[in-house]
Amino acid sequence: MIFTVGGIKGGSGKSTIATNLTVWLSKKGFDVLLIDADEQETATKFTKWRERITEGNSGYTATILTGDAVRQQVLKFKPKFDHIVIDTGGRDTTSQRAALFVSDVYLVPFNPRSFDLWTIADVENLVKEVRSVKPTELQAFSILNRADPKGSDNKDSAELLRESTVIEHIGPAIVSRKSFANTASAGLGVIEGSPVDEKAVVEINQLFNGIMQKIDVDFDVNFNIISSIQKDTK
Ligand SMILES: Nc1ncnc2c1ncn2[C@@H]1O[C@H](COP(=O)(O)OP(=O)(O)OP(=O)(O)O)[C@@H](O)[C@H]1O
Ligand SMILES: [Mg+2]
Repeated sequence: MIFTVGGIKGGSGKSTIATNLTVWLSKKGFDVLLIDADEQETATKFTKWRERITEGNSGYTATILTGDAVRQQVLKFKPKFDHIVIDTGGRDTTSQRAALFVSDVYLVPFNPRSFDLWTIADVENLVKEVRSVKPTELQAFSILNRADPKGSDNKDSAELLRESTVIEHIGPAIVSRKSFANTASAGLGVIEGSPVDEKAVVEINQLFNGIMQKIDVDFDVNFNIISSIQKDTK
């Protein structure tokens, strides 16, 4: 599967989701390529930190691509990896459109704040535009990230996201937790944190397992891989 993590709002948690997804998939035994398609190169910095503590063996392959090269190179890389995760920048860039054109799955984190949620319509328009020219299916999911630990904001924001007929909302919400920032700055996924933040791990496992179920990537009960069935609508 080719996953693009994007959206058109800065700081929503794209790199956090992209790097955690990469680590999570690689821990399941998949051969994963992480593509940094954001000029800020957050995903690349993450991998550099990770390589320091893993003595060069991050557990996945990482590369940087921008602009239309994303589309061309992803098609070349596709047969060589089980999964490709593309981290994009917070704007509607050429890189993000190029990534979406070759992706199967689009993951869009939103923070439960009005400025973030106001971008839903723009993201929907981008998805519609890409779908109108893309020969294969693009499944799009919204994720509530940096959610409040308490209060009704999460529920209200999730309801708003659920109203979309273009982008499917998938839970659970990822609550704002220090462990995400702490692990990321060390080049680790939250599932690798020490001490383990169990609540964060439960949320991220539920979220990613839920996404894998929706897109037909299967694991057995012990989370070993049975198969990765690529939906091909050609
Ligand atoms: N669930 C979370 N809990 C706590 N902090 C979080 C969470 N998700 C993201 N963050 C923090 O929020 C900041 C922005 O996250 P991140 O870099 O993933 O966003 P982004 O969408 O990739 O930003 P950009 O648009 O600049 O690429 C980072 O400091 C990150 O550690
Ligand atoms: Mg980023």
